[in-house]
Amino acid sequence: MRTRVVENFGKYTGQILEEIYSEEVIAARVDELAKQISEDYAGRVPILIGVLNGSVFFLSDLAKKLSIDCEFDFIKVSSYHSGTQSSGTVRLLKDISCIITDRDVIIVEDIIDSGLTARFLKHRILENQPSSVTFASLLLKPECLKLKFDAEYVGFEVADRFLVGYGLDLDQKFRNLPSIWAFPENMNL
Ligand code: IMP
Ligand code: MG
Repeated sequence: MRTRVVENFGKYTGQILEEIYSEEVIAARVDELAKQISEDYAGRVPILIGVLNGSVFFLSDLAKKLSIDCEFDFIKVSSYHSGTQSSGTVRLLKDISCIITDRDVIIVEDIIDSGLTARFLKHRILENQPSSVTFASLLLKPECLKLKFDAEYVGFEVADRFLVGYGLDLDQKFRNLPSIWAFPENMNL
């Protein structure tokens, strides 16, 4: 198990992160998801809607591996004010700029935790009357779901630990790590 020590980051300094998904493992799973999506959408041109900022690496790696044509756009919402505590309410910070009416949409997210953000996004997208909407999330924390939400494409189901890297952040930090790392269990972040 690879570990790394958090440096120069206030109260988090000295915490030990554990790598839970290496670059290779992520790439292999993204390949599988891309293959599945390419089969499911054969003959169609879906629009991938990436949820900023966390989904950027996942969306770009996934899109490059699709064997079908696709388009993409972005939406930005905020559900976490800071740290790791969810505010419980979701705000739209940046809307999509493409027309999705009568199009096949795949919402691309980094992680589903309580499911509140996912539900908000799906409703928001459905308001524009697309012909279909599915949800692709690299990660899902099943224990944390506060509502029933079924994502069609999930990379990995993970335990309730705070994760960073490959787009995931803690107060905007660690997004650029190429693999996924976990903070210690039961840590009061
Ligand atoms: P939800 O609305 O509770 O499902 O939260 C979803 C959002 O919270 C994700 O899009 C992430 O931005 C953020 N989030 C949830 N869990 C984590 C985590 O373990 N690390 C980093 N961000 C997380
Ligand atoms: Mg996010």
